[in-house]
Amino acid sequence: MTGRIPEKFVDELLARIDIVDIIDSRVPLRRAGRDYKACCPFHEEKTPSFTVSQEKQFYHCFGCGAHGSAIGFLMEYEHMTFPEAVDELAGRAGLAVPREAGPAPDAAPPPDDLAAIADALTRADRYYRRQLREHSQAPQAVAYLKGRGLSGEIAAEFGLGFAPEGWDNLVRALGADGVGQTTLVAAGLAAKKESGSYYDRFRGRVMFPIHDYRGRLVGFGGRVIGQGEPKYLNSPETPLFHKGRELYGLYRARDALRRENRALVVEGYMDVVALAQFGFDYAVATLGTATTRDHLDRLFRYTPEVVFCFDGDRAGRDAAWRAAGNALPVLHEGRQASFLFLPEGEDPDTLIRKEGLEAFAARLRTAQPLPDYLFQTLAADVDLGRLDGRARLVELARPLLSNVPPGALRELMIARLAEISLLEPQKLSKLLDRSPTGAGRNTAFSRKPAPDAGVPSLAQTALALLIQHPQLGRHAGDPQPFLVLDGEGIPLLVELMGLLNAQPNLTTGAILEHFRDSKYIHHIGRLAVRQHPMHQQDVEAEFLGLLYRLHCKANGQQIERLSAKERTGGRLDADEKAELVRLLSEKQELEREKPTRWP
Ligand code: UTP
Ligand code: MN
Repeated sequence: MTGRIPEKFVDELLARIDIVDIIDSRVPLRRAGRDYKACCPFHEEKTPSFTVSQEKQFYHCFGCGAHGSAIGFLMEYEHMTFPEAVDELAGRAGLAVPREAGPAPDAAPPPDDLAAIADALTRADRYYRRQLREHSQAPQAVAYLKGRGLSGEIAAEFGLGFAPEGWDNLVRALGADGVGQTTLVAAGLAAKKESGSYYDRFRGRVMFPIHDYRGRLVGFGGRVIGQGEPKYLNSPETPLFHKGRELYGLYRARDALRRENRALVVEGYMDVVALAQFGFDYAVATLGTATTRDHLDRLFRYTPEVVFCFDGDRAGRDAAWRAAGNALPVLHEGRQASFLFLPEGEDPDTLIRKEGLEAFAARLRTAQPLPDYLFQTLAADVDLGRLDGRARLVELARPLLSNVPPGALRELMIARLAEISLLEPQKLSKLLDRSPTGAGRNTAFSRKPAPDAGVPSLAQTALALLIQHPQLGRHAGDPQPFLVLDGEGIPLLVELMGLLNAQPNLTTGAILEHFRDSKYIHHIGRLAVRQHPMHQQDVEAEFLGLLYRLHCKANGQQIERLSAKERTGGRLDADEKAELVRLLSEKQELEREKPTRWP
């Protein structure tokens, strides 16, 4: 993995590119007044409600609510991760993406090297496929594949190939095409001997080309023909190939994922191929690694439901438990994960060949929902008949639950745990809230409305205006006095005003990116698309009026606090007295300034 991308760079990038170009090259836009419009690419519609604002560098669909910056658009539309979207935009803008020192940054190779590696892979792919048709050893490989039940069509569809026995078949064949040996090494196709000569990495194997989510060839997996070790050999990590990120079969499955609204994650290449041969076309496989957060982030960009399919043996159970742990943090907004365990000794490949598509699909319907799986597994380790056993269950569940994002799922899981542990739900919630990992997590929006009901709506409206018209930040002044107000939206308003004081030229899209990893992001997204019944010219006056009223409230609240203290016999010290004097004169000043429009 590479280091973090600095925030400053994201600002600069978003200032250099134009969201209208980025979207228009993928979804043709029509001009409509100040904005641009199209039929929304994220839901079915006949009349265009997808709007792109050049001024705000922001898109929004009034039909389905999709919205975001240029980065967000690429993440949604192209299923890119955040770093990929940044790379893509930077490439367009001719900027190099700097990385903050992070865990072992893999020094990004120059683009020519990437092109050379991609070219070597494509040539190798062509070479392997030709060997499966033409090489004198090919009949053996073909017989092996046939023996496993693969049809010629499906082998061709997945681009299977053959790496013949011998040390330097590929090195010589591609060398003749002018592909340098160091490029072959960089592509993970060859290695260097101590003697200094080069040899093929893949020998005597059936070759499975691996494509990334955009269909670009990034590596290979090679299976030994018959018995032998290692059974599968994969490309090593290269600038293009990252095992922990790629999913075998994803590009091919992309339309099916959208159609089915779910993905099946299996363990092997052969499983994906066999399932596809039987018409089951939405399976993908990890590449001999555990299911990572990156995998899940990627998959959930395509579909709201992921079913994991594992062997019923110990190794399969362990893998499932790890996958469940990695899935918890990404289960928000209605996402679902389930687990299907197969009988010991079987995998999807053997099962679908034995039982056929229908029976396999029926098994899938029995997959266990993640919450059930989680509690059942935990409960198996404790004695629920004992009071201290149930307490132990709560302790075991605590770190897991604290990883579930706040929302309906988390609440329901807590309710379930309450049932099992026989603890009152409210007491359990309190216990879990006090957990060291869960402390203070995302409580911003669960807080009760402040006593002064006027403040939240003033602050929220001011926030919405500021997010939608960041140039208003110029008039915002010092936000610190608002901090005394106790109301939803105040901390965020103060933070945003601070941000815009420092960077007055941020657009709506850029503001969203600043808060991408913040607990406020969903709230900001909602405010960014909130509609205000007012004319563009009135926006500034409205905003200043809101700030004025917030100032008055802050002033009044502090005066009230100090005079209440005096009234109830508390003595004001010298500082407090001086403060009261300042507040009273501020009050007079505010009254003098009182804009006529806000009585
Ligand atoms: P399995 O051992 O379950 O094999 O490995 P399989 O997929 O059923 O293989 P067949 O049916 O015997 O051909 C599952 C996955 O783990 C990775 C591969 O990605 C494989 O598809 N693996 C396995 C390796 O990377 N190396 C190995 O030596 C074995
Ligand atoms: Mn298998």
